[in-house]
Amino acid sequence: MKVLAIESSCDETAASVVEDGRHILSNVVASQIKTHEKFGGVVPEIASRQHVEAINRVLFKAVEDAKIKPEDIDLVVATMGPGLVGALLIGLSAAKAFAYGIGRKFIGVNHIYGHVCANYITHKNLEPPFVGLIVSGGHTYLIKVNNYVDFELIGRTRDDACGEAYDKVARAIGLGYPGGPIIDRLATEGIESVQFPRVMLEEGSYDFSFSGLKTAVINYIHNKEQRNEEYRVEDIAKSFQNAVIDVLVDKTLRLADELNLNKIVLAGGVSANSGLRSRFEEVAKKDNLEIYYPELSLCTDNAAMIASAGYYVHKRGDYGTRFYANPNLSL
Ligand code: KG4
Ligand code: ZN
Repeated sequence: MKVLAIESSCDETAASVVEDGRHILSNVVASQIKTHEKFGGVVPEIASRQHVEAINRVLFKAVEDAKIKPEDIDLVVATMGPGLVGALLIGLSAAKAFAYGIGRKFIGVNHIYGHVCANYITHKNLEPPFVGLIVSGGHTYLIKVNNYVDFELIGRTRDDACGEAYDKVARAIGLGYPGGPIIDRLATEGIESVQFPRVMLEEGSYDFSFSGLKTAVINYIHNKEQRNEEYRVEDIAKSFQNAVIDVLVDKTLRLADELNLNKIVLAGGVSANSGLRSRFEEVAKKDNLEIYYPELSLCTDNAAMIASAGYYVHKRGDYGTRFYANPNLSL
């Protein structure tokens, strides 16, 4: 079954054709990072305009790269939320129009769940159940994935998303946007010179909070600057990243243990983080766990993961026709 998907929830205009939920035939991503870089974050109205400009080119390139004709497509899918409403509407409208044009069904899917499905593409034999840790620029969730379409939300961030904390810390230090990959790279050359707080919240809680950590890092830098004292950016990056990783790994392992599941699946932009990946690999070896994360190109926003999610929703059946843009769609 060939599924064409569009993703446009934030600052990437993406389209992809995926076969049977797991095999990429084409994967086109037009990134707007260069445009938003100078603002230090995504400007919604500019994002919408750029989606309008890119959508047709990206959509037809995905069909062309897949070496198929539009009528070879069996199902059309798009992200319907969460995300920026103007941005979502563009991808959703283009996908619906395309589905109508070729006389195929249309499904709208949840972007956050799409991130998890990126793993089905990278790991052809991966099957639920497993514990999912979704860490992206907009979301931080711990979930129990029961099967391809059924999952339980166990923990979430109470303030900043994990990637958002990376981006804000990077901005405070004067690094570029998005901050995650830059901090990741700098951290490999740093040492943990400052013990920033590991915010665990109440005992037994699976929720997260990153804004206290972010503020601690920003305050530390401001204090140093006011006193005209030097600090190594690499060491701040390493200290911040270690604090993030300790919390993510601790809660995820505790949940896997409680649920008696030995598979852990990472997803979302921050799952590209080299420090996070290697720490999980380390504990996996020690505790006999299986760790999965998507290949680098599928960690951040893309349409292949959305095609995979749509494929599994279609396989379950009974999905109705009411798909509209919902910026606050929850998991
Ligand atoms: O999943 P994504 O593309 O967009 C959302 O759905 O939010 O995630 C983007 C986020 C940004 O905050 C970015 O800084 C972060 O993922 N990110 C990383 C890395 N690569 C991207 N964070 C830490 N380490 C990385 N290597
Ligand atoms: Zn995303």
